[in-house]
Amino acid sequence: MNACDSAIMAGVMQEAGYERVDSAEEADVVLLNTCSVRQHAEERVFGVIGALKEVKNRRPGLIIGVCGCMAQRHGSGIRARASHVDIVCGTDRMGRIAELVERAREGAVVDTGSSGEMPPSPTMPVANPGRGEGYGVTSFVSIMRGCNNRCAYCIVPSLRGPERSRPAGEVVVEVEQLARAGVREITLLGQNVASYGREGPVRLAGLLPMVAVVEGIKRVRFLTSYPSDVGRELLDAIAGIEEVCEYIHLPVQAGSDRMLKAMGRRYTRDEYLRLVDEIRTAVPEVAISTDVIVGFPGETGADFDETVSLVEKVRFDSGYMFKYSEREGTRAADLADDVPAAVKQSRLVQLIEMQRQISLERNSSLVGRMVEVLVEGPSEKDRDMVSGRTRDHRMVVLPGGDDMIGSLVDVRVAEAGPWTLIGEPAERKELVP
Ligand code: 5AD
Ligand code: SF4
Repeated sequence: MNACDSAIMAGVMQEAGYERVDSAEEADVVLLNTCSVRQHAEERVFGVIGALKEVKNRRPGLIIGVCGCMAQRHGSGIRARASHVDIVCGTDRMGRIAELVERAREGAVVDTGSSGEMPPSPTMPVANPGRGEGYGVTSFVSIMRGCNNRCAYCIVPSLRGPERSRPAGEVVVEVEQLARAGVREITLLGQNVASYGREGPVRLAGLLPMVAVVEGIKRVRFLTSYPSDVGRELLDAIAGIEEVCEYIHLPVQAGSDRMLKAMGRRYTRDEYLRLVDEIRTAVPEVAISTDVIVGFPGETGADFDETVSLVEKVRFDSGYMFKYSEREGTRAADLADDVPAAVKQSRLVQLIEMQRQISLERNSSLVGRMVEVLVEGPSEKDRDMVSGRTRDHRMVVLPGGDDMIGSLVDVRVAEAGPWTLIGEPAERKELVP
């Protein structure tokens, strides 16, 4: 979601005539896109803002903007804490960032208005974050904003507002533009993407075939699915549409009914487990990943054991584990944050280690098998290797050079680690011009 917003801002700035540079030292404008989901993320951003002060002291003309969730949350409080910040740009205003930069030349700007407006599509040749100029092989497409769920711990609904879906036609036009620019894989994004188009006429299961047929698009993914919104039609779309990848991110958050209820999640442990069975029956090749929060207020050892047993039972392909972080203004903030820090930490470590082992075992079972990889770019660690992902979202590193970028290749898995597979030299299946 944030990478997508950054791409939108990069596109808007490019359209306004700006060019991307590699460091703050070279920049005339520095824009920080921020996350407020956990306190730790916010602290890191305040650290970066602090470090930029020195750059600004040396070059007073530098314009510094803080954008996104932290801007929305703290508003002018950002400038109260760091007066060298010139722009505070809320979650609904990032599409207007170029205007705000111009206004900031006359004096500081704080804009956290919530007009409910949808941001423009990143249809200009935006820089794909981390991939240099121009489009990459893969791209995010934001298909909805906001969230109507009220998970007790989560600050997102208060910062991003209610759910709004972009019209299907507009999404398709954007995907066509991306495909013409060389994008081969798109990931449709929303906080709760499985409820896309709740008001109709086109739901996610209807949107998937519309984008899958766009010429040049080889793969379609979607993120993030709230468990109770995943229905039969969506599973049929994954199973039945060639381009739609066999991968679903399905945050469970906790394994005990007591915690799920306290968190305000709208499903029980059994319902979640049944859904996992249903998904695996409908799509046997599917990979499932999840998010888990440990140390939510009132979480006992017995509650945590149920999370452990759920993770053991489901055997997720990968999992993102977090320590509960109290966020002011959420319902959970009214509860005592009563799990001691050391207990949260040890639960987190235990769960991460367990998931690492499971991911390793699942990846190891692929050794010797053939997988289809879309090559995305050079490997970060080794310039003689390229990296990409399998259909089910596993990262693969294999020998090869830049000429393979954008190609679909069949690769034999030679080695497996918990996060990455190593592939043998590949048979090129299709070279995309
Ligand atoms: N504390 C810890 N983790 C959180 N998440 C959301 N809010 C919080 C919080 N207050 C996690 C959830 C969500 C992921 C994006 O971040 O697991 O799925
Ligand atoms: Fe937050 Fe829950 Fe909405 Fe996800 S579904 S963004 S965790 S409120």
